[in-house]
Amino acid sequence: MEPVRVGAVDEFGDRTKRVVFIGHEEIGVFRLGDEFFAWRNKCPHQGGPVCQGRLYQLVRENLDADMKSHGRVYDDEKLNIVCPWHGLEFDIRTGQHPGTSDLALEPATVQVQAGEIYVLL
Ligand code: FES
Repeated sequence: MEPVRVGAVDEFGDRTKRVVFIGHEEIGVFRLGDEFFAWRNKCPHQGGPVCQGRLYQLVRENLDADMKSHGRVYDDEKLNIVCPWHGLEFDIRTGQHPGTSDLALEPATVQVQAGEIYVLL
């Protein structure tokens, strides 16, 4: 299939997403910093519209060398999408569920050329 233009880079704010139709497929396109990622909008759990979920930074326990907690902090490097059906989370960069390698989003190819974003299936 030919690459399909889904928008201009400037139309995507950092840490935002857009769900687009390409043919009969729904694809979630995500921006994280200068990187773009694309995933099919079908949750590997039970087929929910995962890309329409909310985006959250990963929350980590802030532990010192003695494993004493100093509260929780946001991880600026990790952004997860939360499926609206049952709440499973997936890493926007890798598509992986953080708790098991058995659950992962199905990727689509995303390309950036001359300030435009294209998706290939
Ligand atoms: S269908 Fe997505 S968490 Fe169940």
